[in-house]
Amino acid sequence: MRDIIEDELFSSSVIKDLHALDFDFVPEELPHRTEQLRKLSQMFKPLLSDISQNAVIRGPIGTGKTVITKKFCNSLVRIARKQARIIEYVHINCRKRSTDSMVLIGVLNHFDKRFPDRGFSVQEMLQILHKQLQRREVQLILVLDEADALLKKSGSELLYNLTRFTDETMKTDNPISIIMVSQKDVLSDLDSSVLSTFKRSNTIILDKYTRDELYDITEQRVGLAFHNNTVSQESVDLIADIASEWGDARFAIELLWKAGMYADEKHVQLVVPEHVRAAKAETYSIVTETKLKNLEKHHLLTLLSIAKRLQKDDSAYAITSEVEKTYAITCEEYNEKPRAHTMFWNYLKEIENAGFISIKLSGKGHLGTTQMISLPDVPAEVLRDKLEGFLR
Ligand SMILES: Nc1ncnc2c1ncn2[C@@H]1O[C@H](COP(=O)(O)OP(=O)(O)OP(=O)(O)O)[C@@H](O)[C@H]1O
Ligand SMILES: [Mg+2]
Repeated sequence: MRDIIEDELFSSSVIKDLHALDFDFVPEELPHRTEQLRKLSQMFKPLLSDISQNAVIRGPIGTGKTVITKKFCNSLVRIARKQARIIEYVHINCRKRSTDSMVLIGVLNHFDKRFPDRGFSVQEMLQILHKQLQRREVQLILVLDEADALLKKSGSELLYNLTRFTDETMKTDNPISIIMVSQKDVLSDLDSSVLSTFKRSNTIILDKYTRDELYDITEQRVGLAFHNNTVSQESVDLIADIASEWGDARFAIELLWKAGMYADEKHVQLVVPEHVRAAKAETYSIVTETKLKNLEKHHLLTLLSIAKRLQKDDSAYAITSEVEKTYAITCEEYNEKPRAHTMFWNYLKEIENAGFISIKLSGKGHLGTTQMISLPDVPAEVLRDKLEGFLR
């Protein structure tokens, strides 16, 4: 028994650096994000003359929002230091810290590791922060990652306070710059008093990665994380193909990592497409779950109706008019009022955009053109179970 354990623990691996496959790993280079990094640098140039800036970074899941922000802020801190200028960079994930008080504790912890988790009001903490920045004569660059979670839970009051941090005693400009990062359009959630300090032009929008971009990103990770010649080019091709449906680099890297684990499990020295396919089957369920969380109830009901139709008819495609009938019945089951025809069409479009379904037009038949819906990636039964679980 001990031998088996020892053999497995010390068996050779195709992976040379597991750390490079972590989601919070920041690679030296970020392929296909050079333009965005250049734009960020231009926006924040005034910071080197003590003039604060605010910006917004927006884009769908896995498009590099978090990683480019980290890369940029770390570089900015380093470059400013060469000019004897201290910029403190704090990165807060607002999904984890979604109240004003939790965000401020996170910021103050950066300055004082032992800052207590309780005992100070928001106003007191703002004053402490004020003093810290004044005393140290530093600039703060605060990244509010997944900022929509903070705005949703706590509104924009903290932003209001942080963007109006100056008073008569401070001769300098506001020492705080803020970057809000989100999948959603957070500017539309801001009060007008805060909106005025976020210039619309200071928004960077990241698009989904194309297949070829995902290929380059995956290939870079192969180089960073795997031993030489342990991942076949076909495997990288397949990963790029699969992930391109969502344009999501995280999905690509996760597939790569899992495929490497499969190769290790089989004790082979080369990652081949079969390992990628196995990785995909396992990863799909996790990815779906995260994506489903972003859908509204009627999107879920529409998707469920498609899954039911496909399962019932046991066919490759469902026809929109049939799905709409099923949708009406499904709504009833869940005590929801079915939405009007045009709304239903919008739902279809939106779940297509989210990558759950493909829609194509049939050739002209006796009924004219019809829309044919398919689920490219997952058995209808699996999706149906998941959705029913979700809606319950
Ligand atoms: N251009 C790139 N080059 C190399 N790696 C990248 C690139 N873009 C993204 N990645 C990697 O893909 C993964 C996802 O990126 P990131 O976490 O920045 O996505 P995100 O846009 O913040 O997604 P979410 O909306 O889910 O927070 C990370 O592991 C990141 O390192
Ligand atoms: Mg992110």
